[in-house]
Amino acid sequence: MKLPRIRTQIATLAAAGLVGAGLTVFVTSADAATASYEAESATITAGVVESNHAGFTGAGFVNTDNAVGSAVQWSPQAVAGTATLRFRFANGTADNRPMRITVNGAVVSNALTFAGTGAWTTWQEATVTATLRAGANTVLATSTTATGGPNLDRLTVIDGTTTPPPTNGTPVGVNGQLRVCGVKLCNQYGKQIQLRGMSTHGLQWYPQCVNNASLDALAGDWQADHLRLSMYIQEGGYETNPRLFTDRMHSLIEQVSARGMYVIVDWHQLTPGDPNHNLERAKTFFAEIAQRHGNKPNILYDVANEPNGTAWSRIKAYHEAIIPTIRAADPDALILLGTHGWGSLGVSDGGSETDVINNPVNATNVMYTFHFYAGSHGTEYLNTLSRAADRIPVFVTEFGTQTASGDGANNFTRSQQYLDLMAQKKISWTNWNYSDDSRSGAVFTPGTCPGGPFAGTSRLKPAGTWIRDHIKNPADNFPTS
Ligand code: GCU
Ligand code: CA
Repeated sequence: MKLPRIRTQIATLAAAGLVGAGLTVFVTSADAATASYEAESATITAGVVESNHAGFTGAGFVNTDNAVGSAVQWSPQAVAGTATLRFRFANGTADNRPMRITVNGAVVSNALTFAGTGAWTTWQEATVTATLRAGANTVLATSTTATGGPNLDRLTVIDGTTTPPPTNGTPVGVNGQLRVCGVKLCNQYGKQIQLRGMSTHGLQWYPQCVNNASLDALAGDWQADHLRLSMYIQEGGYETNPRLFTDRMHSLIEQVSARGMYVIVDWHQLTPGDPNHNLERAKTFFAEIAQRHGNKPNILYDVANEPNGTAWSRIKAYHEAIIPTIRAADPDALILLGTHGWGSLGVSDGGSETDVINNPVNATNVMYTFHFYAGSHGTEYLNTLSRAADRIPVFVTEFGTQTASGDGANNFTRSQQYLDLMAQKKISWTNWNYSDDSRSGAVFTPGTCPGGPFAGTSRLKPAGTWIRDHIKNPADNFPTS
């Protein structure tokens, strides 16, 4: 379906002086890079470099002392995301020589198996997967028994790999690649569906709220269909460090995808309100995201959070400039288009949905975004959403049960009216926000992140309890035929 382009890290590694003795780098497949690091060039604790057993690569291998704690530590360079680590070893005994593997200080395996290979000259590989960060990482293998580790030849790191989401049972597993059908959202079987999920808070402020435990809770306990990853551009966000935020997005996309949820990649432009201000940045960012993840079925591109103070015609021009950048690498991408008036289809700027209906973006497989806050936005917004959804594809990429600041009193009565309308018209929605910020719209009480607990209701504010209940119930009804 999509053909990601080859990306090579050789130039980067060469520039960093890392291609040379003890290191070989070669590209193995689209978008993945493989690098090998010899054990004899690594940091050795309680072990010696030897070369008396043939079949090793490089100049030799490390004979780890036969004792608890003998170790080899490598410092591979990587891009952020999932990586495969392969340890090449020989073990001429009949007994397993387990080692504990840590990556950047975190245990990846307490006892990775290094079984007997039949002879000290017979070399095999033991494999684990781990999440690496951009730039330098530390990979440490430590003997955990008195027999010590095996003889270690080298570490091979295959990074920049992307893992397709699971295919069974989960929202992505059932629905697959989404597309627009008429004015509705349809799954891979061409059936209309509604997605219900959450948005993160700004990833520059609350990355600690998006971790393994919180994502497990969102996918399992909450039964959310998607997570919107809210990456601000200004306010300390992307523009301050494009590499860091792009890598953060890569890593989070992998983690959300692994749990079978859809990912909304939110280009959270807000101030200034004209998205054209960030057009070149957006092209750079979305080209890399689409190239890396375009072969996944679960990526939705939310290209302009809340345009404001800007005519619809200028916003439309931005959309028509960014869409081809994404489609070049991800032709069947579902793209979500920000509307004027802070995503109100113009209402908050004195316009209306007819601005869009009469002058739609020249593209297919796109949906227009609508944002509302039930404590601030009443009948005018509700009626706009209802009318618009009959004429153009609409996706609610953000809403709150309180006022437009994400704070203040909840209005659950009016929120229920919106939810009823969206259920009836199968309009997908996303609630703001999955963090422990102090405001009433952040679902967790302050101090919940990063440790949790995230499942259940013990750490939820009233808005959190209410929205969790509406995501869990009723159960998703995703037709497959
Ligand atoms: C032998 C072998 C070594 C190995 C050692 C061991 O001495 O030659 O290479 O490290 O056994 O049992 O660990
Ligand atoms: Ca030994």
